Amino acid sequence: MTTTAESTSPLVPVDTWWPLLRSDQLKRRPIGLERLGLQLVAWRNSRGEAQLHQRFCPHRRADLGQGEVKGEHLICRFHGFAFDGTGQCRLMPCEGSEARIPPGMTIGRYPCREAQGFVWFWSGSAASMPAEVPYLPALAGLPPIPGADKELEWAMPIERAAEQLLDMHHTPFTHPLVWLSATSKRNTRVVYEDLHLEGDHWRGTPRFEPDGGGGKPFRLPHQLLFPNQALLAFGHGVYLYATLTPIDRNRSIGWVRYLLRAPFPKLLSALSNWFEARFVQPEDLAVLLANQPSRGGLQHQCLVKADTFVAHWHQRWSHLVPGAYDEAH
Ligand code: FES
Ligand SMILES: [Fe+2]
Repeated sequence: MTTTAESTSPLVPVDTWWPLLRSDQLKRRPIGLERLGLQLVAWRNSRGEAQLHQRFCPHRRADLGQGEVKGEHLICRFHGFAFDGTGQCRLMPCEGSEARIPPGMTIGRYPCREAQGFVWFWSGSAASMPAEVPYLPALAGLPPIPGADKELEWAMPIERAAEQLLDMHHTPFTHPLVWLSATSKRNTRVVYEDLHLEGDHWRGTPRFEPDGGGGKPFRLPHQLLFPNQALLAFGHGVYLYATLTPIDRNRSIGWVRYLLRAPFPKLLSALSNWFEARFVQPEDLAVLLANQPSRGGLQHQCLVKADTFVAHWHQRWSHLVPGAYDEAH
């Protein structure tokens, strides 16, 4: 019998995909995770397929992330109870192999899939889970470099962290070091070209240009797969893919992955990821952690034209996640 855990999270819309961890992190040992306000354990069966279950053992609530995998079973470290991929307990060593296993001795199973170098959680029923995790179409032609991603944990709600996927016009001010390479002008205005906001796939190209004319404009084609996958094209074959997931109501985790059409792409991608994490993200964090109220949202922010993606995101999110912007919980 298959036991299905409640596979939705109150923190995110139903029927959406969320990356949990990188595929290459999930090896032979199970991993306990806190994501989407849920306690999860991820492991691989003997065929190498990712499995996702409730994290705490139904016997005496041990963390199954401390256990081990033997064949088709996830074994609890505390008393060795063995659970199969459906979540059913198959052996309680202390009771003997003939013992009747109580009906409640199960770990709920969550739907998941592996794609793009991540294990993804489906926030919806297994029956409604699509065959594939949606992919930003522009990624199709780029070299996948799983394993070179940089993982970043942020002490801010998903509602604020997501703005990082949507806001390009902070760059000249928050990241002057990076911006110098594009143009030294800081009085830069931003105009969106080719804006498409239909459905879940949004596209636009912010054109940065010195206010009042003169100088060369700089374009940064930008795409989003609502709610949590973004791709930036810096030009010269350099792309930045980013995705994120709530850990709980007040913390988020994200991954950045530079994709390069260049010699030694893996090495250059790893260097770029490192630079991003070492120099760029701390600048973002310094600003974002001080923003009040911490969840942002439409009623607390006076948005302007350049914030079009931000506004659109919050509009959809507030419809899909009731109470998302309530400060007290
Ligand atoms: S707590 Fe898991 S087997 Fe006892
Ligand atoms: Fe930034």
